[in-house]
Amino acid sequence: MSTIESVLVENRVFPPSEAMQKAARIGGMDAYNALCKEAEDDFQGFWARHARENLVWDKPFTQVLDESNKPFYKWFADGQLNASANCLDKHVGTPVENKTAIIFEADDGTVTKVTYRELLDRVSQFANALKAHGVKKGDRVLVYMPMTVEGVIAMQACARIGATHSVVFGGFSAKALQERIIDGGAVAVITANYQLRGGKELPLKAIVDEALAMGGCESIKNIFVFERTSTACAMVAGRDKTFTEVLKGQSTDCPPEVVDAEHPLFVLYTSGSTGKPKGVQHATGGYLLWAKMTMDWTFDLRAGDIFWCTADIGWITGHTYVAYGPLAAGATQIIFEGVPTYPNAGRFWQMIEKHRCTIFYTAPTAIRSLIKASETDEKVHPKNWDLTSLRILGSVGEPINPEAWMWYYRNVGGERCPVVDTFWQTETGGHMITPLPGATPLVPGSCTLPLPGIMAGIVDEAGNELPNGAGGILVVKKPWPSMIRTIWGDPERFKKSYFPDELKGYYLAGDGAVRDAQNGYFRITGRIDDVLNVSGHRMGTMEIESALVAKTDLVAEAAVVGRPDDVTGEAICAFVVLKRSLPHGDEAKAIAKELRDWVAKEIGPIAKPKDIRFGENLPKTRSGKIMRRLLRSLAKGEQITQDTSTLENPAILTQLDQTY
Ligand code: WT7
Repeated sequence: MSTIESVLVENRVFPPSEAMQKAARIGGMDAYNALCKEAEDDFQGFWARHARENLVWDKPFTQVLDESNKPFYKWFADGQLNASANCLDKHVGTPVENKTAIIFEADDGTVTKVTYRELLDRVSQFANALKAHGVKKGDRVLVYMPMTVEGVIAMQACARIGATHSVVFGGFSAKALQERIIDGGAVAVITANYQLRGGKELPLKAIVDEALAMGGCESIKNIFVFERTSTACAMVAGRDKTFTEVLKGQSTDCPPEVVDAEHPLFVLYTSGSTGKPKGVQHATGGYLLWAKMTMDWTFDLRAGDIFWCTADIGWITGHTYVAYGPLAAGATQIIFEGVPTYPNAGRFWQMIEKHRCTIFYTAPTAIRSLIKASETDEKVHPKNWDLTSLRILGSVGEPINPEAWMWYYRNVGGERCPVVDTFWQTETGGHMITPLPGATPLVPGSCTLPLPGIMAGIVDEAGNELPNGAGGILVVKKPWPSMIRTIWGDPERFKKSYFPDELKGYYLAGDGAVRDAQNGYFRITGRIDDVLNVSGHRMGTMEIESALVAKTDLVAEAAVVGRPDDVTGEAICAFVVLKRSLPHGDEAKAIAKELRDWVAKEIGPIAKPKDIRFGENLPKTRSGKIMRRLLRSLAKGEQITQDTSTLENPAILTQLDQTY
């Protein structure tokens, strides 16, 4: 049974225990409903109250929401603050000052702890180093770092001096890096010589060099290199400096640069439905507010919690729930450098036990791969570790199928911990639709209800609200503080992508959804555009197609679709027409490998097609349109039920049957 079907028949409900209800910070379902009502009755008052309670403002705001230039909304626009001060300085003189901020576990298991005080000093020192090299407020800085304390320091230091960071995931290629440097006009790169993952030392700095060598990156004046390992890497005199060099003599005191609430805190690139990734721009005040509030609400955060979000800082989850949210909330968090399967697939469970983790937040793909591993190897099953410290489990990035949800709930959470299935996006900055621990009755596979203040709804193509039970387009009917502000350098694309004219000014999420006929719970049914979700990573089909056809000596035409995959959620399937005769057997295998390696170089290994199929042509209508629905059926191995009478060349269907 497919995921969506099994969600539709899901009727298990897990209400919170009475004890949990009593203890929950949100204070149960009545309190949740009261907050929703407050937001409905006095929308701006609701947000103003929370913004005053949750953030430290250097200059208090007098205006809450500025709608004068829709959809370019502004929040708290005349207020001023600094994000880093709200994550670090604010704790000075409180019990949090000497609390552990980060428990860092390296790939090899080495553990280092950093207190809030120490983190503040290190961020300040690095911020001074950036300033000493001419990096200033308003500049863009590209961060290409491993999952380390220094990765967070790099981001926080940018925020401290008012520079806008643009973090690129360490798995992206030189080409992807070059595109992002050019698009953002970055003045500096913060990177490491190498990264350690799964016992392997992988280059980072060398990829930055390769990106710069491709040209067009003349805006880059400095490259700061964190020496993660003792292995040397090539350094260009005058341009490249090690962390050790630049930190030498720098003071640990760096007054935070106060910025306007709307000042761009960061730009983070994500895939859309064209070949070009979009630079999602977030604002300082609204973003940080929601990062802090959702830490408290969604994770029911308490002083003694040990929070662990497994996401890399290269993704939005790692921005909001590693680099900013936990610090703004004064939490102790675990940062893990390595991969869940090294030295074996019990690593997560072993780390939860070792650090007495209380809140664990990961992606369905990771859960599904660990389920699989524990089925073949009993020794890595979670039952081998003491996981009783856990209080709350979270899921993020893609739909979680009820089977995986139940396994997570039983085997990791001991049927004691609520699973918060958090629906949100790079563009939303933080959680949008999620259960609240101790309040919302849980239904496996459902992200349940919107957070207070988030006016989510389901509409048809003309923007008309649909009744519960009817599937439609997921929208957000009112702006919210942590929403995307624009696409970096492309305001028109921002308007067209997220606020299309037909939708009455609603924010278009890009997902389909349906609300339960009885309780109004939301279930996300998947993207409605040409965006795939592979292992919780967003990939545009056009992006992969562009990469494939860029191999001009080999590829004439390519079409990419997704198909369901048991572990990765969706898998990438590429249909390719070559500039030479149709390959077979070993030759086809060799070309498929060549194409995968090529895509890894163009975008990154995460974009490699799992299936490659060759044909002398693609199935097209007489007017020349690629029949994508038919390709999706072929990719799934489904019986073709579509009308193929308009196909120019029906014989190619047989050719496209073979997967390499
Ligand atoms: C897309 C956003 C959420 C931060 C990490 C991914 C899908 C995300 C869920 C969920 C079903 C989900 C949607 C969304 N998605 N969370 N809990 N249930 N689908 O951020 O890379 O911007 O991707 O991920 O399709 O649009 P992203």
